[in-house]
Amino acid sequence: MNEERNCHGEEGHCQNGRSCKNKGNSCDATPLTSHRREVLGLMAAGGSFALAGCLGVFGEPSPREAPIVGIEDRFDITFENEEDTIEVAGNENLLEAGEAQGWDLPYFCRTGFCGQCLARVDGDGHELVHMTINKYDPLDDRAIEDGYVLTCTGYPRSDFSLQTGQVGALVVDDDDDDEVDGTIEATHTIDYVNERWTIEVPEDQSLLVAGEERGFELPYRCREGWCGQCLAQVDGDTRELVHLEVNDYEYLDDAALQDGYTLTCQGFPRDDFSLESGKFAEEDWPGGSPP
Ligand code: FES
Ligand code: FES
Repeated sequence: MNEERNCHGEEGHCQNGRSCKNKGNSCDATPLTSHRREVLGLMAAGGSFALAGCLGVFGEPSPREAPIVGIEDRFDITFENEEDTIEVAGNENLLEAGEAQGWDLPYFCRTGFCGQCLARVDGDGHELVHMTINKYDPLDDRAIEDGYVLTCTGYPRSDFSLQTGQVGALVVDDDDDDEVDGTIEATHTIDYVNERWTIEVPEDQSLLVAGEERGFELPYRCREGWCGQCLAQVDGDTRELVHLEVNDYEYLDDAALQDGYTLTCQGFPRDDFSLESGKFAEEDWPGGSPP
């Protein structure tokens, strides 16, 4: 176990995927949420990652090419979700800079491929961030211009604010001969409480599918809005937060909707909210436990 935590290799990295300053130093144990995220990310990535793995895209962590910026150039970077501003050197990547603060920032491949580390800066990404690698298809020129960048391969070029957790904010337009046009749809920030994960969900994607795409094991059965197995609860009035395409579940009446109960299989977000899944068998279900 200790051996796995030891810093090794000339670049100084750990078998748990984290970097460390010096060979021989001990590495931090991977936090539960990070480990969970890697597993979930792997599930969500599916075939692409299997193929990438076969092709050796990931392999051992490799040192990323640093941009040609003097080490003395430092920039003030505000991590909005973490509500803090730190100094980041021009040759220090944004993901590692945040991790050095102890922040649990999203990532999976760390090689510019999967998009899990997608973040948004408050300006043109071309001018503010130098990305050494960008193999994430939806992140095209237009999206970068809109401020989307990868933190795992991104190095600061200026001072800026940064919002992490943007995976899902960029979508591929499948109607255009599979060409990627970087269309940006209205999305909402949904905190999946039991899964301990916050993601961006487009308005045209159900809460169930959005979670499944991230590898969450959410309950369901019919997927058509009548069985109630996917019952969840949001932190507000469902009628204001969620568009229920179909609601044929007899127990989900107006009072229950007002209490925040919803169906994830037929629920499409219309605002930001927290969502607790697995409410089907809940004892305090309004009116008594559903059958
Ligand atoms: S972690 Fe995969 S692209 Fe950054
Ligand atoms: S899975 Fe049956 S109502 Fe959602």
